[in-house]
This record gives sequence, structure tokens and C-alpha cells, in this order.
Amino acid sequence: MAMTMSCGDTTVHPEVDRILSLFQVSKEQLHLVMHRLREEMERGLSRNTYQEASVRMLPTFIRSLPAGKVNGSFLALDLGGTNFRVLLVRFGSACEDAEHMVSESYRIPHKLMQASGQQLFDYIVDCIIKFLSNRNIKEPPPLGFTFSFPYQQTGLDQGILLNWTKGFDIPDCVGKDVVQLLREAIQRRQCALQEFDLDVAVIINDTVGTLMSCAYEDPKCEIGLIVGTGTNMCYMEQMRNIDKLDGDDGFMCINADWGAFGDSARRPLQDIKNEFDELADKRSQHPGQQTFEKMISGLLLGTIVQHILLKLKEKGVIFSGIKQHRLDHHGLFETKYLSVIESDTDDLLNVKSILEKFDLSSGIEDRRLVQKVCEAVTQRAARLCAAGLATVLEKMREAQQQDHMMTVGVEGSLYRLHPHFSRILEDTVKDLAPQCQVSFRHSKDGSGRGAAVVAAMNRC
Ligand code: GLC
Repeated sequence: MAMTMSCGDTTVHPEVDRILSLFQVSKEQLHLVMHRLREEMERGLSRNTYQEASVRMLPTFIRSLPAGKVNGSFLALDLGGTNFRVLLVRFGSACEDAEHMVSESYRIPHKLMQASGQQLFDYIVDCIIKFLSNRNIKEPPPLGFTFSFPYQQTGLDQGILLNWTKGFDIPDCVGKDVVQLLREAIQRRQCALQEFDLDVAVIINDTVGTLMSCAYEDPKCEIGLIVGTGTNMCYMEQMRNIDKLDGDDGFMCINADWGAFGDSARRPLQDIKNEFDELADKRSQHPGQQTFEKMISGLLLGTIVQHILLKLKEKGVIFSGIKQHRLDHHGLFETKYLSVIESDTDDLLNVKSILEKFDLSSGIEDRRLVQKVCEAVTQRAARLCAAGLATVLEKMREAQQQDHMMTVGVEGSLYRLHPHFSRILEDTVKDLAPQCQVSFRHSKDGSGRGAAVVAAMNRC
């Protein structure tokens, strides 16, 4: 039997040390990650190499940030995870300044995430119809569509789906224009819409929505970051640096699609990835894909913790004596538990009740160890995300050849709800990119509201 020594209030065991050290990434390692991500971003921008780049650097065809006020009413759809939202946003005119927004969330049934494109888009249009008829809206305003999956654009209202992420897997949509799929579903439901038209004006990614929504309030905001179920970033890039597009003047917003960083044959994250990442990835929806995202976002952090706890149990370090439990049910350990566990204090009674969901009775030493494991997994996630952000901040600082304040607009449940994630992220960014003056702006509802902002900019 393995030897366990009690030292103060935590359990010290060689297996615990070994596992926790797998999640420590030093500043030197983070600098390496920055260097490799930068290379991959350049590859994604270059005409000769973009097709083989894991970080796709997708052009959005948005050439500017919102300058000043927009006005009018717009519908926005936000599809990117288990909930689908419809929003109605009215931007105030000069005399009527206040902005008004109403929204509703609809759960996407799990089976629809793996059904057919027709079933998914019909469901979406049914939700829009419900939203409009509940409010007695007979003439819907132009619509902005936030679609938070990788797609290729050649214009503002067209997006060819490249692949699904975050638990969605509907093969018949891949390679198709999702705006067209939405329009076809609208056509199919035309009688329910009673002749009035829904005009899909723009499609954007959630990072872009977050950026545009924040930039509408803060002109220094040039980066949009999401850390929720998935993670991704967009930023304003100079056209002369986007080698794969013609034209050198001005800027374009680039959706980096950085979740896939690490997927290329070069395996740039192989020395950071560990056995628990492998275990969590193996049984995920898209094994071998979205390497960076799986180490950072809510998608798999809970599952990584679950695999560590199983290993510690197998080694006899934790939950000794318990034979029957539910910890081996894959995917049951949700990332939201990490927030609860890492917020708990004293007797860790919230940790206790989470463990009871898995039929695990626990002593205080077990609970402290569970908390330590969660902290290690979160810490690595936030530090890796910071390395990503520092990479783009440095790139933008170099291009501007002068230090200026930059704001990062951020949205996502992990950033918003976790007790420590945002602080670790922000501190690490400052440590890795000390010359960048950066501030963070949390954008509430930005991903959806941003689609209304872009639709409004496009109409002006
Ligand atoms: C996934 C999607 C990406 C999205 C991100 C955050 O990585 O592929 O498009 O921006 O999640 O939601």
C-alpha cells in the first residue's frame, strides 16, 4: 500500500506531487507557447501556408470598430452552445438615448446537436417565431446572427461551416453556408411567419460580438476574448499583415479560432499536454481536435479533474475504503463544480456535497486534496489562456510601434463565474507582456448584442 503522510492540513504523497507538477507551467514554458502560437498565427495569415495552419485566422470582413452611436432596432440570434438566444436590441436615436434590450434563451435539446441541419435550423426558426409572436412583432427588424463555430467567410452575410466544435456534430452542415441554411429554414416556415420577411444581414463569431459590443462603449477595445464552454479570440489586424487577402489599407477583424492551436502535425503543445488531457480527450466528441481549447475552457476541465481523482483513488491516496461510486461515469464531473469547490472554505462542506453526488463520502483531507487538484487544473488553464492573449497583445504592440492602452473585451462563463480564473489570467498577462498596457472589460450579453451592433453598422 502507498505511504501517505499527513503534513499540516494537506496530504503529501509522491503521486499527488507528480500529478500536480504536471499542471505547473513555468514562465519559460509560457514564453515557448507564445512563440509557437505566434508562428501558427503567422502561418494562418500567409497566402502560402494558411490551408495547413491549425490557427486559421479567419477573415470576418469587418473593417472597422463601431465609431460613435448607431440607432434602430435589430434582432440578434446567438448560437454557440447548449442555449440558443434571441435578442431584440433597440439603439437609441439622438433624442432618445437609452438602449433597450429584451432576450430569451431556449435550450438546444441534446439530440438536436447531433441531428440533421434541417432539424437544427427549423428548431431555431421556431424559437424566433415564438419570440416574435410573444411580443406581437409583425415586422421583424434586420437580423444579426452570432454563430460560434469555425466558418469561412467571403462576405458579411455568408459563412461556410468548416467543422463543428463543443459537442455539436451535424455532418450534413459541414461545407455549407449556414446563413443559407437559416434562410432555407425561414422559407420552410414562411406560412407561420405570415409573409413577413426575416432579413439575415450579418453573421459573426461570438468573439467578434464581444469585441464589437465592448468597442461600442470603449474605443480602445480591439480584442475580443471568450472563455466559456469553448475559448477563442479575435482582434483588429492591419490589412498589410493579412497576406492571404488582397489589399493593404486599413484593418480587418480576424477571428483567430485559436481553440485548434496544437492540432497540427507539429504538435506545438505536446510538451504541456499530459496523460489526463489524453484521457479526457479520448472520450470527447472530437478526439484529437481543439487541443488548446480542451486545456483551457469549460468543455473538459471538469473531466480532467475527474480523471485525476480516479487515478488518485486507484493509487489509494483518496477516498480509501470506498468501493462503489459514480466517479467513473465519463463527463459527469461538470466544470461548474470547479467554481464551487475553489470558492469553499473551512470544512469544505460544499465540496462534500458535490462528492456525494458521486456516492463518495469524504474526510476533510480528501476534500482539501480535491480542492488542490481543481486549483492546479484551473491555474494551468488560466495561464495558458494568458499566454494566448499576451501573444496577440505583443503582436499588436509591435505593429503600432508605440505603447498604447488596449482593452480586451471578455465574455464566457469560466471568466465570469469562476472565483479565481479572471485574476490569474489578468496577472499572468501582465507578467508575460509587461510592456502592454492592458485593461479588461467584461461584456455582458456581448456575443449576442454585438451581432445587433454589426447589423446596425452595416446598415449605416
Ligand atoms: C469554439 C468555436 C469558436 C468559438 C469558441 C468560443 O472554439 O469553434 O468559433 O468562438 O468556441 O465560443
